[in-house]
Amino acid sequence: MVSEYEIKKQICDIGKRIYDRGMVAANDGNISVKISDNEFLCTPTGVSKGFMTPEYICKVDANGNVIQANGSFKPSSEIKMHMRVYKERPDVKSVVHAHPVFATSFAIAGIPLTQPIMPEAVIALGCVPIAEYGTPTTEEIPNAVSKYLQYYDAVLLENHGALSYSDSLLAAYHKMESLEFYAQLLFYAKQLGGPKELSDAQVKRLYEIRKKFGMTGKHPADLCPNNKDGKASCHNCGSCGTAPKEIDNDLVEEITKKVIASLNK
Ligand code: 13P
Repeated sequence: MVSEYEIKKQICDIGKRIYDRGMVAANDGNISVKISDNEFLCTPTGVSKGFMTPEYICKVDANGNVIQANGSFKPSSEIKMHMRVYKERPDVKSVVHAHPVFATSFAIAGIPLTQPIMPEAVIALGCVPIAEYGTPTTEEIPNAVSKYLQYYDAVLLENHGALSYSDSLLAAYHKMESLEFYAQLLFYAKQLGGPKELSDAQVKRLYEIRKKFGMTGKHPADLCPNNKDGKASCHNCGSCGTAPKEIDNDLVEEITKKVIASLNK
């Protein structure tokens, strides 16, 4: 079994990687790892994630309360967002939040990553939606992200950044790297006159490869909540990247009453 100290070191390594790759500026970003049902390691608030040592890493419970923290370190101000992911996705073992330049630019422009432009992004991510803007540190971001958790393993945070999660720290980080690479390619392709998208048939074959590899996590290929009858992929469902439609029960009841009343006339 990997020791707690070793996991803390791994968090520092990933923090250095996201900082060195320009995925965060100054003290931005945060990382967490689930070590048991009620124990989570997380980066402290307000430090550069590029220069951490294992002593910086805090331990919290499933509600984000401090179990252990050295000196003046306090858990990330975004710990509620991390805890919501663990609560609603028991398969997730690690969460990474960063502000990569290209992905965050799409999140600021309000453009979800829905165009199928290269095989790896289609297989690993499918579409990446934008969770509605929320004030950092409040419950607004966890609430906004919640809608997407059962369908996607990465989301953009409107006017803020990106969030990825997976069954290991390295996998969660790799999702962030893939997301940023996809956003970067899409950005440049748009400058060159717009991307030539993969066809529906090509996308369908990539989804089959994903299934064949038995890849873990949630992928909208099988789950896109907005997928319409007859549409082959999450990329052409017509509302990809948007939240699953919530049923308005009051409206359904009102329409039902009107239909019954008209039938009885
Ligand atoms: P913390 O340093 O509190 O984790 O916050 C950084 C950040 O990126 C907030 O969005």
